Amino acid sequence: MAPVRSTGAIVAAVSLSMALLSLFLYKSKISSKKTKLTLPSKKNHTTGLVGAIGNTPLIRINSLSDATGCEILGKCEFLNPGGSVKDRVAVKIIEEALESGDLAPGGVVTEGSAGSTAISLATVAPAYGCKCHVVIPDDAAIEKSQILEALGATVERVRPVSITHRDHFVNIARRRATEANELAMKHRKDEQMNGQALEQTNGFQCDGEKQSVVTSYTGGYFADQFENMANFRAHYEGTGPEIWEQTGGNVDAFVAAAGTGGTVAGVSRFLQEKKFNVKCFLIDPPGSGLYNKVTRGVMYTREEAEGRRLKNPFDTITEGIGINRITKNFMMAKLDGAFRGTDKEAVEMSRYLMKNDGLFLGSSSAMNCVGAVRAAQALGPGHTIVIILCDSGMRHLSKFFSAEYLSQYGLTPSASGLEFLGVG
Ligand SMILES: Cc1ncc(COP(=O)(O)O)c(C=O)c1O
Repeated sequence: MAPVRSTGAIVAAVSLSMALLSLFLYKSKISSKKTKLTLPSKKNHTTGLVGAIGNTPLIRINSLSDATGCEILGKCEFLNPGGSVKDRVAVKIIEEALESGDLAPGGVVTEGSAGSTAISLATVAPAYGCKCHVVIPDDAAIEKSQILEALGATVERVRPVSITHRDHFVNIARRRATEANELAMKHRKDEQMNGQALEQTNGFQCDGEKQSVVTSYTGGYFADQFENMANFRAHYEGTGPEIWEQTGGNVDAFVAAAGTGGTVAGVSRFLQEKKFNVKCFLIDPPGSGLYNKVTRGVMYTREEAEGRRLKNPFDTITEGIGINRITKNFMMAKLDGAFRGTDKEAVEMSRYLMKNDGLFLGSSSAMNCVGAVRAAQALGPGHTIVIILCDSGMRHLSKFFSAEYLSQYGLTPSASGLEFLGVG
């Protein structure tokens, strides 16, 4: 009888296991069906172009991390829809201006910029139903105005003069916004008087001193990225908190170069408020006075002050960084020190990252990477250092990635490793 009992027990056990297995398979089928059938939740998609800005990945830069013994993490701002860190700033400037009523829906945002901010404003403005008018120096690469015009912005190319001159491109941009507001006011008055609507035009005409080139009847707003604190807030409320969250608070240092100073100020202030001993450093390109300001408290000799020059001399091939005045945005930075970076180091770094990591980065990003290595050398191994990868190399083909251009300035890259920074 015993064998019969044990056979029965075996049969029962097998049946039970089969039943359990079937139940398991059925459940996993259901759950896999459920996964497949789950519709994208609100969290899985973002709203429009603006929703795709920010929340960029923070990546470990393997070559630099392995070479220095620090975790060097780069925030991939080149992945923003407008191609740079300035998308965040453009959004914040426009949103704050619309909220405050300084910019009316349908109005024109003006900016004096030959760089990424203009491209970001031109990219983002239509998402808010606004227009964009950009004033740039006429020695800026022609591709810049072509891109801006392709994005629907109106572009005014003007003679390059000192920032203190009323016709510096930044001052003209400010004036265009005022003119657009005057035009809007006049239009409203005319409408009230005549009781009839005037046809709205919004475009670019030939510059004449008496006639504004900005003909929006809904008014204008000067973006003013250097002095507008929306720039700082874009980083204090966006980039900084993202870095904090992505590192889980495990961040020892932050390094950035400054153009307007918005990034370094917003991120450094946020991180230091979260963790008082996070070290924040500036990396400064040739020709900029900020290194002196941070390390010695004095920016320049009287002769070097911005505004005393007729035209900015050739200082550096890096773009968007380095300045010889203190902006309101930069004033908010909390810095523990500064490093100097050279053009040669930035060029060598960009090629090193291409070769070792497949990272094709613009000149300011390469300079930030130089800063990261300098910070790693100053702090020693075992630290986590965060930097910004501002834009991609695509925007820098005619200079920073042109062999011919670099050879003219004796900047042809030749390093095989990081020996140009004394590593390895
Ligand atoms: C490509 C690029 N990188 C870096 C910067 C510097 O950033 P910030 O203006 O926040 O100092 C700029 C500024 O225009 C830029 O265009």
